[in-house]
Amino acid sequence: MKKLEIQSSIGKSDIYVGETLANVSNYLPKKGKLAIITDPVIHSLYGSQFPKADVVIEIPQGEEYKCMQTLDGIFEKLIDAEFDRTSFILGIGGGIICDMSGFIATIFMRGIDFGFVSTTLLSQVDASVGGKNGVNFRGIKNIIGTFSLPKFVICELEILRSLPKTELLSGMGEVVKYGCIYSEEFFKYIDQHIDDIQNYSLEVFENLVFESVRIKAEVVSNDAKESGMRRIFNFGHTFGHAIEKITHMPHGCAVSVGMVYAAKLSVLKGKMSQSDCDRVVALLEKMGMPTTCDVPVVDLLKLMRSDKKREGDSVHFVYLTGVGTCCVEKLSYTELDSIINDLR
Ligand SMILES: NC(=O)c1ccc[n+]([C@@H]2O[C@H](COP(=O)([O-])OP(=O)(O)OC[C@H]3O[C@@H](n4cnc5c(N)ncnc54)[C@H](O)[C@@H]3O)[C@@H](O)[C@H]2O)c1
Ligand SMILES: [Zn+2]
Repeated sequence: MKKLEIQSSIGKSDIYVGETLANVSNYLPKKGKLAIITDPVIHSLYGSQFPKADVVIEIPQGEEYKCMQTLDGIFEKLIDAEFDRTSFILGIGGGIICDMSGFIATIFMRGIDFGFVSTTLLSQVDASVGGKNGVNFRGIKNIIGTFSLPKFVICELEILRSLPKTELLSGMGEVVKYGCIYSEEFFKYIDQHIDDIQNYSLEVFENLVFESVRIKAEVVSNDAKESGMRRIFNFGHTFGHAIEKITHMPHGCAVSVGMVYAAKLSVLKGKMSQSDCDRVVALLEKMGMPTTCDVPVVDLLKLMRSDKKREGDSVHFVYLTGVGTCCVEKLSYTELDSIINDLR
């Protein structure tokens, strides 16, 4: 097991990579009530390993339940079970469960403590670390939410074995992203361990999750509320979010295609060499990630204009300047309009 700490302006969080769900009791407060928030799949697969709790709340699977209406019933259960300020919320699940249970804990009684057992690769390397919590509202993703860090996050590696392959690939999209934007060494490590990744080597997964979280923690510690450097994590996401919305590809797979478009745009703008761009595309292809999609570019642009991260007529776009380095600059939709056809 490897431990990491996030220290930032919004608090402190301990991340345990390689720890197990069965040991979670060691991290829970000794006094006060406990609510577990989970989804039906995790509950049926791993419920026997859950710690003893006062209430176990299941949220049905799917983004459509990540909304304000779902919260209503959950608050009702917490109030009925007489939860108070000393109570604790434990989210056990993927990104949806972590985002929602963190949000619930942050606003219930103006904030109670919470922790996560993160069960998807995507949530281990991204959703459960960094302190963003929230729900969707009228189709806009994560538009209502808070910044608040869990006391702890447990990233069990064995638990990832039951993940459907597409979910594992989706998480790998975010893992590759960290290599592309922040560490050529990590990028090379991924490239050299494709077979181990495909054979699910626990040792390699421990390194993948740990290094991804280390990079995220380093940046988040200095920019918890995304006013500067944290924006680099949006690499591949400006295109990715639009692709995800239209194709319904899993998030990290849409981001994979988005990273290819963003890398190509970086070449077009003279920020990165064609050979570095080719390395990025080649790695994604070797991993079996999608690198292209059939969505007409006009449709992509239309959606990108409604990106919640836009500022006026432009967006903070993350370009690669090489493998393992990047920069963020404003890109106007007018300019994007004029060059987008060259990307395909
Ligand atoms: N807060 C953040 O910074 C942040 C970052 C990235 C993504 N997100 C959010 O995360 C969500 C996506 O997360 P996700 O990809 O983990 O999706 P998810 O939570 O929907 O999980 C994906 C599917 O896998 C199943 N599952 C989970 N763990 C499993 C396991 N160990 N074995 C078998 N099945 C398992 C779930 O039941 C679900 O059907 C989105 O809502 C996104 O907005 C948040
Ligand atoms: Zn993402």
